[in-house]
Amino acid sequence: MRTSIEAARERVRRAKRVAVLTGAGVSAESGIPTFRSNGGYWRQRRFEDLATPQGFARDPKFVWTWYEERRRGIARAEPNAGHRALVELEARAERFTLITQNVDGLHERAGSRNVIRLHGSIWSLRCLGCRREIEEHAELNELPPLCECGGMLRPGVVWFGESLPAGAMERAASAVSEAELLIVVGTSAQVYPAAGLIPMALGAGAAVLEVNPAETEFSDDVTFALRGGAAEILPALL
Ligand code: OAD
Repeated sequence: MRTSIEAARERVRRAKRVAVLTGAGVSAESGIPTFRSNGGYWRQRRFEDLATPQGFARDPKFVWTWYEERRRGIARAEPNAGHRALVELEARAERFTLITQNVDGLHERAGSRNVIRLHGSIWSLRCLGCRREIEEHAELNELPPLCECGGMLRPGVVWFGESLPAGAMERAASAVSEAELLIVVGTSAQVYPAAGLIPMALGAGAAVLEVNPAETEFSDDVTFALRGGAAEILPALL
């Protein structure tokens, strides 16, 4: 494991096939809380109540109140220098795939194009009745919101115990297996199958560069571990 930014920058400069895996930490400097760091959502709330189908079935209004509060917070937030550096990296690389666990849409707002969203989108709403999925950015006045068909809408995100969107993990795995460099930014790497992309890249012989102010379970195994915030480290890598 190396910690030199110069060596990491040189590796990034040479890389033609790049995959990136991001988590909540990449949006932290945009003012959006993470899940497991200090001040993170799961430090004060039970994920069982807020991010499982069972929790939603028990109290949809409670779950929607939390999601709507997050939606409004995200709507006020702006992409940061870390998101923007990944846009620049995409423009430079021959092949580039951005795999994100985030549901905030900030990568897309910054201008990233080839994005795989493993955990869905907080801007999408799915009907439990007719299964239709709609995109809605406006404030939701009535909670839980209802579909035109009268069915209840749920957040279009992946909850614990649910499958990932069809094909998303397959596309992510294929991008990682083809990449010579995987950059892992702002994830505690505790949630699978997303975290499994890191050992997959290492097993395939790719260089893995971790950007995180804290250590993760994979820090000892990665090729480069850079400690610091995404908005500082990612631009410094270019
Ligand atoms: P976590 O909250 O588990 O981890 C956030 C990571 O970001 C931690 O390792 C922090 O050290 C790091 N971090 C904090 N500030 C940072 C900064 N400024 N720059 C870079 N890194 C920073 O979030 P995820 O790993 O994304 O799932 O969590 C994975 C999944 O668990 C989420 O997608 C969500 C959650 O429950 C669902 O909702 C299904």
